[in-house]
Amino acid sequence: MNETAESLSNKPGVEEPTVAALLSDVRGRLRSAGIPNSGLDARLLVGAALRMEIEKLILYSDQRVDGESVHRVQALVNERVRRVPVSRILGKRDFWDREYKLSAATLDPRPDSETLVGAALEQCRQSGRGTIRILDLGVGSGCLLITLLCELPGSVGVGVDLDPGAIATARLNAETHGVGDRAMFLCGNWTDALWGKFDLIISNPPYICSDVIATLEPEVALYDPLLALDGGRDGLIAYRKIIASAHPLVSENGCVLLELGNGQLAAVSSILCDAGFAVKSVNQDLSGISRCVCATPVAN
Ligand SMILES: C[S@@+](CC[C@H](N)C(=O)[O-])C[C@H]1O[C@@H](n2cnc3c(N)ncnc32)[C@H](O)[C@@H]1O
Repeated sequence: MNETAESLSNKPGVEEPTVAALLSDVRGRLRSAGIPNSGLDARLLVGAALRMEIEKLILYSDQRVDGESVHRVQALVNERVRRVPVSRILGKRDFWDREYKLSAATLDPRPDSETLVGAALEQCRQSGRGTIRILDLGVGSGCLLITLLCELPGSVGVGVDLDPGAIATARLNAETHGVGDRAMFLCGNWTDALWGKFDLIISNPPYICSDVIATLEPEVALYDPLLALDGGRDGLIAYRKIIASAHPLVSENGCVLLELGNGQLAAVSSILCDAGFAVKSVNQDLSGISRCVCATPVAN
């Protein structure tokens, strides 16, 4: 039996722990395993195991926890100690106020990517269009495309991913959020199977340099799919492929919106300009990093 289970198990004669004691014990165990943000993770794991919203943990802090629930907590904590991210343990992640199911094939959506959503909404509102045709290249869990479809009720969208598992998860998330009838999901290599015009092409492509991946925190390096991370030797391979084929797919007055890795603005802007696009705007994330670039096709 592990350390925490021993201290909190429901042996005869041993008092059931209170929610507060369990939380404190889990926090301590995560902290000593070197898990960052151990306080928040402890609340999320205990809340999930007790099937209680984390805000309610304080309200019920004096309540006793039965042995079965303590063991459920332990199982989750054991996974976190192995550096499985909380979102992967729970199989879901909040993004732009909605919950998305994750799978082994999907990136765990990052709060930074909400910058792209904000920029996309800004572009769509400026355009004044009613119906907006959106293309999401590398759709993953669907968090970007589905958020936009929910926020822009007149819009329709296509999501593409090379991984069939990601496509299945995105489709499930679209149904859950009530936009399945406005979304189409295709398994394929970037724009290969596409034709027609889109008013907004978005992508958060894999942009980590190959040799950096092993140095990332274990939560990312071990649990995000390599296909979602690996941008090749210089991190820019996916940008080159996407940008090279995007021009004919952008409608008149349409635009391309790309998420950027830290420090990639100049290189991606130059790829865009070489392919006949003009940079229209750049949005920064909450840390002040240039996180996405919006570009429009230059008329021939
Ligand atoms: C960084 S993830 C972004 C996922 C999601 N859009 C998000 O923001 O959370 C990049 C996505 O691109 C997909 N991908 C990688 N190579 C691809 C390719 N050649 N064609 C289509 N999708 C690809 C990956 O499977 C992954 O889902």
